[in-house]
Amino acid sequence: MHDQLSETTSALLVDGKGILAMDESTPTCNKRFKSLGIPQNEEMRRAYREMIITTPGLGQSISGAILFDETLRESSSSGESFVKLLIEQGIVPGIKVDKGTVPLAGHDGETVTEGLDGLRQRLSEYAQLGAKFAKWRAVIAIDDDLPTAGAVEANAHALARYAALCQEVGLVPIVEPEVLMHGHHSILRCGEVTEMVQREVFVQLNRQQVTLETMILKPNMVAPALDYEAQTSDAAIADATVQCLMRTVPAAVAGIAFLSGGQDPEHATARLAEMNARYKTTAPWPLTFSFGRAIQRPALECWLGEKANVPAARALLLERAEANAKARCANTQH
Ligand code: 13P
Repeated sequence: MHDQLSETTSALLVDGKGILAMDESTPTCNKRFKSLGIPQNEEMRRAYREMIITTPGLGQSISGAILFDETLRESSSSGESFVKLLIEQGIVPGIKVDKGTVPLAGHDGETVTEGLDGLRQRLSEYAQLGAKFAKWRAVIAIDDDLPTAGAVEANAHALARYAALCQEVGLVPIVEPEVLMHGHHSILRCGEVTEMVQREVFVQLNRQQVTLETMILKPNMVAPALDYEAQTSDAAIADATVQCLMRTVPAAVAGIAFLSGGQDPEHATARLAEMNARYKTTAPWPLTFSFGRAIQRPALECWLGEKANVPAARALLLERAEANAKARCANTQH
């Protein structure tokens, strides 16, 4: 089991590639389709995912793809399973296993992620379907008074229970405690909250006996809120993010794969490049990406559900994937 976990971890973190998060739940995918006037049905979701998975050359810059339950079970229009097509591209298939967030009782404005009940059985099924790794996303809201210790602890506990169950069945857990970018907070406030959240996450991971060497942390970058009034340089964001990680993440953790969290695709890439340019040779873990919107958004906005747009959309997808893969190099020029 340990060999399998190590093999998957190494494949996901291989230098010069990163992870594509294409695991939007059906409601989230439909919401994105709706905003662009794309019909919201299963066939359109399947066609969209087929376009991505069958993009020639995607495996040159993408090491793993996180899928939603629906997608893991689907096939291309010519009848080949998405799992098989990903493997043929050299891309490791993964699965989002949380069941989304619900309001946390007694904690106005905060949520907890659900999905632990029956998780052991679901993970076994996903492993049989070909998934090699999993993802669970905890969502932490931030304002002057939030998050509360209760919400941070409940979410960190669930992440740790999930991660331990994943390792039991041989799936590498991606542990995602996302401090949201919504609001008006400063980079300092984001750093303070991210640090507190990650500390609690590692307390809980240790308590649940999670093996750090075969898990990947998927954090937010430490950045000002999307509506914060002043600009912050990419270099300052890179510094604040790595400082926070150095304070909180044990060196034994296999790797760090950032979420993009609503940043402009170019910003997310530039900040990842800054981090690698400054810290690749000194940080104890690889600094890579597990972006959703920052890779897919331009392609989705181009595709619009039209077959005729597939070649142009694929080109945009590859452009973002390749730019992020390149951002992992220490000597990136930008
Ligand atoms: P974004 O990069 O769009 O934030 O998505 C990453 C992800 O997997 C969220 O759970």
